[in-house]
Amino acid sequence: MVHARDLRQNPSLMPVSELQGDRSLQEYYVGEVEGILIPYRTIRARVEEIAQQLAGDYRSNGVLFVYLRDGSKRFSDEIADSLDKLDLGLRYAPLPLTAKSYHGNTSSGNVVVDESELAKIRDHVLEDRRISKVVLIEDIVDTGMTMTRVLRDVGRLREYPTLSVSICTLLDKPDRRREDCMTINGSIQYVGFTIPDVFVIGFGLDYNKRFRDMDHIGVPTQAAIERYAK
Ligand code: IMP
Ligand code: MG
Repeated sequence: MVHARDLRQNPSLMPVSELQGDRSLQEYYVGEVEGILIPYRTIRARVEEIAQQLAGDYRSNGVLFVYLRDGSKRFSDEIADSLDKLDLGLRYAPLPLTAKSYHGNTSSGNVVVDESELAKIRDHVLEDRRISKVVLIEDIVDTGMTMTRVLRDVGRLREYPTLSVSICTLLDKPDRRREDCMTINGSIQYVGFTIPDVFVIGFGLDYNKRFRDMDHIGVPTQAAIERYAK
C-alpha cells in the first residue's frame, strides 16, 4: 500500500483566512466552513504522487479504472489531469459506477449498485481479456459498506481469468469502519489521507449536494449543517 498521510494525530483545522497562496474559497461558502482540514495545494500534491504510483504500477498491465459517482468524479478528474501533465504513459479512461446507500433508522444500511453501469463494466472486461485488474477510484471509505458491496459485485463480473479488484481512495476514515466490513482493508491499495472521525466536505464530497465544488477539504459549520439539512 502507498503510505498514507495520517491526519489523525494532528486534526487541527486551518482558518479559511489562512488560505493565502492557494485557491480562495468561493464567495458563497464564506461563513459555511468551520475550517480547512486539507487545503487544495496539499490535495493536489498528493494526487500527483498517487498518479505517479498508478503509472508505475500499471503502465504495462491490463487495468481498468472505475470511479464511484458522484463524489469521486473530482478526484478522478484530477488524477487524469496529473497523468496528462506528467506525461506518464498510463491510459486513464475510467468508467463510472453509482453506488447509493440507503441508511434506515437502524445501524444497518443497504447499498444498491447501478445495474446498467455494472453491465457496461462487465462488457468491457469480457471483451478485453488482457484486463486482469480493476482499480476503484473512491472519494472516501467510511464504514466500508459501499466498498464491501462494490468489491463483491465487480469481483464477480468475470470468472475466468479472474479479476483482481483494489481500491484507490482519496480519504480513509478507519475509525468508523464496521466490524463486518474489515475485510475490505486488505483491498485498499492507495490512500491519499487517513482522517479522523469528522464529517468533511469539498473536493467532490458533499453535504446534501452542497460543497462538492469546493477546492479544499474542510468541515462545515453547525449553521450550514442546519441550513442544508434535508
Ligand atoms: P461508507 O459506505 O460508509 O464507507 O461510505 C461511503 C460514502 O459515504 C462515501 O462514498 C461518501 O459518499 C459518504 N461519506 C462518508 N463519509 C463522508 C464525509 O465525511 N463527508 C461526505 N460524505 C461522506
Ligand atoms: Mg462516494
